[in-house]
Amino acid sequence: MSEPQTQGGSLSGAAAEPRIRVRGLGKNYGALEVFKNISFDVGNREIVAIVGPSGCGKTTLLRCIDGLLPHDTGEILVGDTRVTEPIAGVAMVFQHFGLFPWKTVSENVAYGLRMAGSPKAEIARKVPEFINLVGLAGFEEAFPYQMSGGMQQRCGLARALAVEPNVLLMDEPFAAVDAQTREILQFELLRIWQERPTAMVFVTHSIEEAVLLGHRVIVLKGRPSNIHETIVIDLPEPRTRDTLRLPRFAELRERVWSTLMREAREAEFVLER
Ligand SMILES: Nc1ncnc2c1ncn2[C@@H]1O[C@H](COP(=O)(O)OP(=O)(O)OP(=O)(O)O)[C@@H](O)[C@H]1O
Ligand SMILES: [Mg+2]
Repeated sequence: MSEPQTQGGSLSGAAAEPRIRVRGLGKNYGALEVFKNISFDVGNREIVAIVGPSGCGKTTLLRCIDGLLPHDTGEILVGDTRVTEPIAGVAMVFQHFGLFPWKTVSENVAYGLRMAGSPKAEIARKVPEFINLVGLAGFEEAFPYQMSGGMQQRCGLARALAVEPNVLLMDEPFAAVDAQTREILQFELLRIWQERPTAMVFVTHSIEEAVLLGHRVIVLKGRPSNIHETIVIDLPEPRTRDTLRLPRFAELRERVWSTLMREAREAEFVLER
């Protein structure tokens, strides 16, 4: 079994000029140092998946990149803009849907556009376009409580995509849906990404999902956490259901799994002492 590359390398999905640059990033909540010295780039057409144990700071990292949370050290650049507050062109899909329960699908999808100051006519044109794109046509007037988890997450995705972001931040978007729906949504996302590629940071607990979607997988570890390893996912594109059957897919999944498990065992060892 050939060793996957662990750093750099030429990437089919990455443009030469990175869209996101994270440099020496550190974040504390009071006395709690969540992560420190995190540095990575994401290309214009690249999906970087991030895995790591619960509580290692994945959501915090995405919120810092989104400009929703201030960071303590280092810097984040999106294009040429230093991130100190939310900026145009960056959209986030949240871990727990993040929809407004009192708004319909159409109103939820329109929300991001309204916030971005889009003219009414543009909103009226784009809302049905993106509802169609994620397969929610017919549910325009439904409220979140009337929809399954998978449908709610499609709505969250439509809301993020409608602003036509060049950076998409995904925080375990499929964690709260059943396994079958999750698989459907993963391939839907890949289809949409092929149509409208962006720089994407995709946080997940699922190693399979990280390897299927990512051009690189970043493994976070430790307390405070930092980047333990970056594994280049050299699988052919476009990724399809057939990708899951490739021997290389199994090798890479094993590689990420053993990296994470090594961490879990080390954590146990620390606890036992
Ligand atoms: N607003 C906050 N104030 C104080 N501590 C926080 C806050 N948000 C998160 N934390 C702490 O920061 C750490 C990282 O939290 P975060 O939610 O980023 O982890 P995560 O990797 O996304 O976890 P999970 O995989 O469970 O979603 C945790 O120890 C958490 O308790
Ligand atoms: Mg989280």
